[in-house]
This record gives sequence, C-alpha cells and structure tokens, in this order.
Amino acid sequence: MHVFNGKADLIAHLNSIKTAHSTIGFVPTMGALHEGHLALMKRSLQDTDFTVVSIFVNPTQFNNPDDLVKYPRTLEADVAKMNQLNPDIIVYAPTVDDIYEGNTVSQHFDFDGLEFQMEGKFRPGHFDGVGTVVKRLFEIVKPDLAYFGEKDFQQLQIIKKLVSKYKLGIKIVGCPIFRESNQLAMSSRNERLTPEERSEASLIYDTLNEVKNRFQTESIAEISAWVSSVFDAHERFDLEYFVIADANTLETQTEKESNKNYRAFIAVFVNNVRLIDTISLN
Ligand code: PAF
Repeated sequence: MHVFNGKADLIAHLNSIKTAHSTIGFVPTMGALHEGHLALMKRSLQDTDFTVVSIFVNPTQFNNPDDLVKYPRTLEADVAKMNQLNPDIIVYAPTVDDIYEGNTVSQHFDFDGLEFQMEGKFRPGHFDGVGTVVKRLFEIVKPDLAYFGEKDFQQLQIIKKLVSKYKLGIKIVGCPIFRESNQLAMSSRNERLTPEERSEASLIYDTLNEVKNRFQTESIAEISAWVSSVFDAHERFDLEYFVIADANTLETQTEKESNKNYRAFIAVFVNNVRLIDTISLN
C-alpha cells in the first residue's frame, strides 16, 4: 500500500499511473476511520480506477483549540484498515507544512450565504478552513470524483458550491449517513464518548426520527419546543441548536410550504463532545 507524506511524491506517483482515460476518486478525511469512511472508499473503489484517501487533521477548521488537541489521531490503525479493505488505496497523510507551506491560515470564501447558517454560526471560520484545505487537496489530487458523507450536510453543500464557483470540474458524490447499531451517526468524535454516553447518544437520532413524524402534523415552532424539552430533560445532553431548514439554501424555516424540501439539523454536546446529525423531513 502506498502512503505518501509529501505532495510532490504523491503527484509524481499519480502522474506515473494515470492514463488519458483513467479516473481518480478521492475521499478526504481527518482520520480515526470508521465504517462510514470505509463506505465512502468502497464507493470510490467501485466507481473509479484509482482511489486516493487523505488523512489530515486540518488545524484551520477548528475554532476550538481544545477540540483540535483532542481530535483522535490513529494513522497506523487507519492505514491497517485501508490495507485490509483494499491495498490499492493510495494514502496521502501530509504534514501541516506540506499543505500550508509555513502559513497556516484560511483563505476567505463567499459560499453565497451557506456558510452563515447552523455550523457557521456556532463555529466561526470553520467553513473557511474546510474550503481552504479541500481546495488545496483537490489541486494536489486532481480527482474526477470526490466523496463526502451526508452527516456533514452543510459541508457537502459548501463543497458543491466551492466546485461550481471555482469551476473545478469535480463530481461531488454525497453518501448516506452510516449509523452505529443504536442509530448514532458514525463520527470520529464518538471515540471520545464513554460506553454509557455512546449508548445514550441514540437519543439524538430517536429525536430526529420523531421530528420527522411530527413534521406531518405539527408546526415548526411546536416541533422546536418539543425538541428543546427532550434535551432539557436529559442532564448529560446540552442542545446547541435544532433547526428545520430549506435543504437547498440551508436557511432556517419558520413556516411550512408545499413546494420545498426540508431537513432537520441538530448539534448536541454530550459532556464535552459535540455531535451533529441531520434527517430529511419530506
Ligand atoms: O469532513 C471532514 O472530515 C473534514 O471536514 C474534511 C472534509 C476532511 C476537511 O478537512
């Protein structure tokens, strides 16, 4: 299995294997790989000739320094998992300097307002950091297709916007959320939960599922009040936001209209671990 730490070696390798008709699939990750990541890789392995996976904990997208320090880093185990899945996967695990060349700051982006909703409100600068690293990774890997999970639905919409604004000519493939057996959305952050917290965190999906039922008959205000009451009743959980939004603009909605696609979005702290999830409502 090829593991590259520097972009020059990765680019040279890709140039040596690519032909005029071959396709490259790309799965950008921050490591601590779980089944959800592996599902993205499987899609890429099916769809394309070469699959590149990046493992890079991107410092510029962390607005909370403590979260950056605590983010799990498990490169050896990650490489073993990929090797087991398919030893042809090409891994790019760069240093911060290889990506940022001594200037670890974000570029500023205009994502037509998508960046100001939900995560953008609570994690200032986060999407500038994501946009910066993903654009650089795209410039290095030059993929034909790139795969992202729908758990980070706002990120997925923003990456699509990045590709269209900069005319990058990459097909962005959104893949369904992978869930643990209790329906908790898979996330590298789940590793930081105790077994008891991890089990109780099923409350997040259970709540979203009930939101979907209630959406048929109740107003958005009624549903939002019910969600707040659910988390108020659970000491371990701290609800950061619950939003019903237009699935295209991601703007928060207060009224239901017949011709729109709606999604519910939630961010919850379980102890100090921040978890997000989302569900389509219609
Ligand atoms: O979703 C993630 O893991 C990260 O935001 C990404 C896309 C790899 C950029 O660092």
